[in-house]
Amino acid sequence: MSNLVVLGLQWGDEGKGKIVDLLAKDFDVFVRFQGGANAGHTVRFADKHFALHLIPSGILHPGKICILGNGMVVDPFALLAEIEGLEQQGVAVGANLFLSDRAQIVLPQFQLLDQAREEGAGPIGTTGRGIGPTYEFKTSRLGVRACDLVHDKALRERLGMILPPLNFLLEHYYKKKPIPAEAVLGKLLEAGSKLKGYLADTCELARSFSGMGKRILLEGAQGTLLDLDHGTYPFVTSSTCTIGGALSGSGLNHRDIHACMGVVKAYTTRVGLGPFPTELKDALGEKLRARGNEFGTTTGRPRRVGWLDLVALRQAVRLNGVETIALTKLDVLDELSDIQVCIRYREHGTELTSLPAGEESMDRLVGEYIVLPGWQQNTCGVRAFDDLPRQARDYVRFIEDFLKVRAVLVSTGPRREETITAL
Ligand code: IMP
Repeated sequence: MSNLVVLGLQWGDEGKGKIVDLLAKDFDVFVRFQGGANAGHTVRFADKHFALHLIPSGILHPGKICILGNGMVVDPFALLAEIEGLEQQGVAVGANLFLSDRAQIVLPQFQLLDQAREEGAGPIGTTGRGIGPTYEFKTSRLGVRACDLVHDKALRERLGMILPPLNFLLEHYYKKKPIPAEAVLGKLLEAGSKLKGYLADTCELARSFSGMGKRILLEGAQGTLLDLDHGTYPFVTSSTCTIGGALSGSGLNHRDIHACMGVVKAYTTRVGLGPFPTELKDALGEKLRARGNEFGTTTGRPRRVGWLDLVALRQAVRLNGVETIALTKLDVLDELSDIQVCIRYREHGTELTSLPAGEESMDRLVGEYIVLPGWQQNTCGVRAFDDLPRQARDYVRFIEDFLKVRAVLVSTGPRREETITAL
């Protein structure tokens, strides 16, 4: 029983980075299986700050292996910049990093298309990193994969198929200056030559590591409610951030996965547009945003803030087969006298036990709340469950009981040691 999937159960930004970093000592191999540079977390390590977008934080731990899986969409220039940044801060990157030869490549034209769409009708508030178009072209079988970057002829052919219609669209529909193939070909080949040493069949590699008894942590990016199929469509990302993505995006099979842990923030946030039934649009929301420092790591955008939504979380727990959770940012609630938790939705008076599919239905939802007493004491840095105020312990137990999961970690501050590990 060794390989673990760690997934966000809300709209991303649950604090997965810190949890994965904490768990790192017990694992040998770290795999990212979906998303791209739309993700991001800051890890504090040895008194330094590392902003990571593509590479798992396991890279900061000597002797660990990191894999960027086939389910990812990788901007090769962003990856090279991230490697360079790590090296400048004294982190060795070499035989400890592998990039799937099947990972999709984010082209500059995909980023331009992503941004152009966001400027047009019906924006959803993407990160503008080209994630949607890259997955779209992958699904249309028109993507460029990492393996193509090291084959001049293959890359030319791929670009020759992809770019003429795409540039036509950019120029004539979106009124953007198109980026011709010649402007990117040389740069992509150069990036390919620099990344060549990292390329591997990472599915075979992960399987062989698993066979050797090495422990694998599969690290999800974004969160369940941003999942392409199960999230608040169309206000979602374009990848599978739920358990199925861990299999298809890593090449491991269901027998290789032994447990799934969900990461849950003690309240809710989301960036970008879209339904958010428990959103607080008032001064209290502002206060929690400031106290929780809720500003996006990738884009710096202020995050929308709201109460904990146990209905959506129960759906996320069921979808992913989560057995345990890590609860983060409990201390952000310290000053509140009352804490509300959404336990039911109603649409036109009818009770709903999960988020409905339609955008209009989601907007019409009325959340029903239970009010739990706040603790109004400082819990920053508390390291033992019994040292939490009674109301804080009750809050954690209420969440466990409602979701029928066990909380195995509670985070009470950004630092590694500011965590309760025995509950
Ligand atoms: P995209 O992934 O850039 O296409 O953006 C689609 C939606 O997902 C937008 O609402 C983004 O704000 C959101 N999103 C993407 N990545 C993250 C993340 O890492 N944390 C939180 N929200 C994200």
